Amino acid sequence: MRIGLLTGGGDCPGLNAAIRAVVKRGLGEYGHSIIGFRNGWKGVAEGDVMPLTRHDIRGVLDTGGTLLGTARYHPHSADGGLDAVRATLEAERIEALICIGGDGTLHAASKVAEETGTKIVAIPKTIDNDVAGTDRSIGFDTAVHIATEAIDRIHTTAESHNRVMVIELMGRSAGWIAVQAGIAGGAEVVLTPEEPFDIDRVTRYLKHRHRAHASFSIVVVAEGAVPAQGSSMEWETKYGKFGEIVSGAISERVAEEIAARTGFDTRVTVLGHVQRGGTPLPSDRILGSRFGVAAVDALQQGRTSVMTALRGEEVVLVPLEEVAGKAKPVPEELIRVANALA
Ligand code: F6P
Repeated sequence: MRIGLLTGGGDCPGLNAAIRAVVKRGLGEYGHSIIGFRNGWKGVAEGDVMPLTRHDIRGVLDTGGTLLGTARYHPHSADGGLDAVRATLEAERIEALICIGGDGTLHAASKVAEETGTKIVAIPKTIDNDVAGTDRSIGFDTAVHIATEAIDRIHTTAESHNRVMVIELMGRSAGWIAVQAGIAGGAEVVLTPEEPFDIDRVTRYLKHRHRAHASFSIVVVAEGAVPAQGSSMEWETKYGKFGEIVSGAISERVAEEIAARTGFDTRVTVLGHVQRGGTPLPSDRILGSRFGVAAVDALQQGRTSVMTALRGEEVVLVPLEEVAGKAKPVPEELIRVANALA
């Protein structure tokens, strides 16, 4: 079989482990050809191919990023995108496609499958961990690890300077990284998109804490966090409206409000793309490897329009249409734990 392979959307640690697994399983076990597309769906539309051999995957297991490159490109939003994708798939005689991506890539995969009849198996990856249908996406564990380490480091300087340190973490409209790194790093306050916050409560709590027993605090803010409707915090900045995700916007506003209402010395850290870079943790290498093998095996068994997923300890296949475009918010229990330990 000629199997196409792409990575789309934002990169993350663990992608190369998945690519390696697809190539090893596909070439070695079944004798398939693996045709990589550079830069996600854009590469498919442009016919930018990179046939993958054992040589290409040597030494990549522990590397970050994606050896195929990636792009935020949606064939359905680009002029003539879908026709171009169809033409490349025909020209390259692609019989099946493995798409590694987050919700945007998976949504495109489900539409391409529907409209061109291409056999597709998807693999979920995103540091945001917001792909529905799977307990984990490739890259999430590493991002939480990096964010937790950053919080640990900020703790010591917060304490030395008696400051309130506001740390913004990625996650788009989900607070998975913020909640998990917030719990692991012992943050005093964790603000998430799932639970709009009341700035009065936050500042009352910080004042109480500093009066009672502490001289510093750590406030973790998910980049998609929003103030509660009718809360006393106005969203009037150069950045735009509630819920618009602009790096640094919400954390700067929160820090300004804290400083104005408490008089505490406040600093902001926007962790940004550090969360997506560098060496994957073993758990992401393992998850990428498991998903890669499962995706090739799925095609071998004639399963298509499915996504590999982790459910508990098991890797399973779930129908793509059940997960594409669906949200996966942080469960209440995790948010409760983050709040309870503040
Ligand atoms: O989806 C992953 C993610 O890192 C989000 O957490 C973040 O909002 C976004 O990508 C940043 O995108 P870009 O790398 O295109 O700036």
